[in-house]
Amino acid sequence: MRYLIQPAVIRDADVTVPGDKSISHRAIMLGSIAEGVTEVRGFLAGEDCLATMGAFRRMGIDIERPGPTELMIHGAGLHGLQAPDTALDLGNSGTAMRLMAGVLAGQSFAATLTGDASLTGRPMQRIITPLSRMGADIGSRDGKPPLEIRGNPNLEGIDYALPVASAQVKSAILLAGLYARGTTTVIEPAVTRDHTERMLRAMGVAVDQRDGHIGIRGPAALRACRVEVPADLSSAAFVILAGLLAERADILIRGVGVNPTRTGVLDILLAMGASISLENPRNMGDEPVADIRVRSSRLRGIDVDPGLVSLAIDEFPVLFVAAAVAEGRTRFTGIGELRVKESDRITAMASGLRTLGIRVEESDDGALIHGGRFAGGEVESFGDHRIAMSFAVAATVADGPVVVRDVTSVETSFPGFEACLGRIGADIVCRQGEA
Ligand code: S3P
Repeated sequence: MRYLIQPAVIRDADVTVPGDKSISHRAIMLGSIAEGVTEVRGFLAGEDCLATMGAFRRMGIDIERPGPTELMIHGAGLHGLQAPDTALDLGNSGTAMRLMAGVLAGQSFAATLTGDASLTGRPMQRIITPLSRMGADIGSRDGKPPLEIRGNPNLEGIDYALPVASAQVKSAILLAGLYARGTTTVIEPAVTRDHTERMLRAMGVAVDQRDGHIGIRGPAALRACRVEVPADLSSAAFVILAGLLAERADILIRGVGVNPTRTGVLDILLAMGASISLENPRNMGDEPVADIRVRSSRLRGIDVDPGLVSLAIDEFPVLFVAAAVAEGRTRFTGIGELRVKESDRITAMASGLRTLGIRVEESDDGALIHGGRFAGGEVESFGDHRIAMSFAVAATVADGPVVVRDVTSVETSFPGFEACLGRIGADIVCRQGEA
């Protein structure tokens, strides 16, 4: 499948985007090992979260789906999962694999986790090392999936300083810590998204959090609760950018999660001169949400604060697009982690931007982007949802039509993307076709 996108007039609109991917994954995982029924509303029915749901069903969990975005998860308690009879295929989802490895580390059975071509190329040593220190036995192909996890019901708590800032690794260790004897403490080099900590607290687990140390005492039982999933700021970011780039538009996106561990993208865009405001701030369960108003803005190039990287980790593809139309140069540093996401996002963005006529200088852990105008052209997504959607947004202000190849991955995080962008005036047609 590919997108054919025509330049468009983006207009005033009032829209919503689908539920948060990180919170939806965690709702299934924690709901499955909690005691009682966890009711979820606003669940993201994208392929990544559906893969997690499928995996827990294969381990015996009864998950009802009364509506497309509603779930009733019949938790089986900490020790109620059953051994799956075949490997669990987690598709494209790094979050599913790394967090589930944490849960499986404490089981009294073995399970194999695998995924698609992208996922089986991603680094897993970062979870294998700490989980092995806790007592799990994890086989891999040189630190890459498939992972063969032979759980150990007698895990021991550890103190672990994360070598890379990663909410996935932090969460894997904390989830294993639920099963371990004693205290498990994770020390973060930079703040990362804290949805796991918030949901654990909502389910009755005491989480100690100070000065970059996050600790829990195991074994710790979870109590089912209601989870209301806010709209995903990482998906809203595409709509935000389309609004900013437009000639003249005023767009309201409702009920978006604005957890401060996720809002780096807003801080970076504000520093570039964007007109973005948060209206009607409120809490949805344990997460802060707001309606986000965005108005067309003239962006200027900046040196992006490396201190914001872990708070905007998934938004760099779309921020590269912002940089490409900003006046002057934008320098990104400290973003080496982007090279091990669903694709090498620095190279993927740099190559597509160059195809569209933008000057980009790439370094190991950064990029320097010279603002300009997009020409039409044909770009690769490298099978990466966020690359595909970033170029679709760029195309709304290009001088000619843009084709984005290989866009099926958009279903992993943003089902309905073309229709949502259509509501603000974009002209995106999805075509069957080579790649
Ligand atoms: C996620 C954490 C991030 C992010 C991913 C979702 C999570 O990964 O890129 O899309 O839900 O914990 P890292 O924590 O490995 O950077």
